[in-house]
Amino acid sequence: MLLTVTDIRNLAPGIWQITLGGEFPYETVKSGQFIMIRIGSSREHILRRPLSIAAVTRENTTIVFRVVGQGTKWLSERQVGDQVDVLGPLGRGFPNPPADAKVLIVGGGLGVPPLYLLGKTIQSETAKVDIVLGFRTEQDCILTSELSRLGHLVVTTDDGSLGMRGTVIDAVANLHRSGRSWEYVYACGPLPMLRRLKEYFSDQDVKGYVSLEEHMACGVGACHGCVCPSEDGSLARRICINGPVFPWNEVSL
Ligand code: FES
Repeated sequence: MLLTVTDIRNLAPGIWQITLGGEFPYETVKSGQFIMIRIGSSREHILRRPLSIAAVTRENTTIVFRVVGQGTKWLSERQVGDQVDVLGPLGRGFPNPPADAKVLIVGGGLGVPPLYLLGKTIQSETAKVDIVLGFRTEQDCILTSELSRLGHLVVTTDDGSLGMRGTVIDAVANLHRSGRSWEYVYACGPLPMLRRLKEYFSDQDVKGYVSLEEHMACGVGACHGCVCPSEDGSLARRICINGPVFPWNEVSL
């Protein structure tokens, strides 16, 4: 379907936010789901790019992405009023926690945008939300003020230029030592971060869900280009249709 760019802005060096309006099943969108955007109008960039949904209203949806190549550069050059060809919403999103559950949300870098929609979605379920976000430097920080309105927020940067110096795992351990505990953990970010987070909670009675980022060609389960092994290695899980959100004990990270 064709959607129209209603807003485009630069959030941080190389990171852009685009809001799209037009005919789209906004009311069916679940946090963690993604859309596939067709890049360009020629056959030059034949593949669509998967982009996770950062926000949705009844009239529009917002995505955030980093410019990493020609395709995302093209996308960052769109202007208000331009049309883009979109497929979606796709994939399996985050399940909501039970009412009043103690929730921890952990995001790293470009893994943060889908967690903003998650935070907004679970706002009505529970007020017991801790949020830990990690970035390389202050310059790379995105959506921190928006997420600070959805829970108790801790920001970490690798160089200490904003918030705590260290990793999200350090910050989670600090919170834990200070007496916080959680029943549900939701995370999105680089694979090593997800792996360490899963390890950290491995001896605790916590339900964890991770959103995996992967290069996708078709986005609908047809090409097997996005496969990851299940925890016991017996199953190949396709991230685009079985995920991108998985219970963390269902996949090998
Ligand atoms: Fe083609 Fe997942 S992207 S099967």
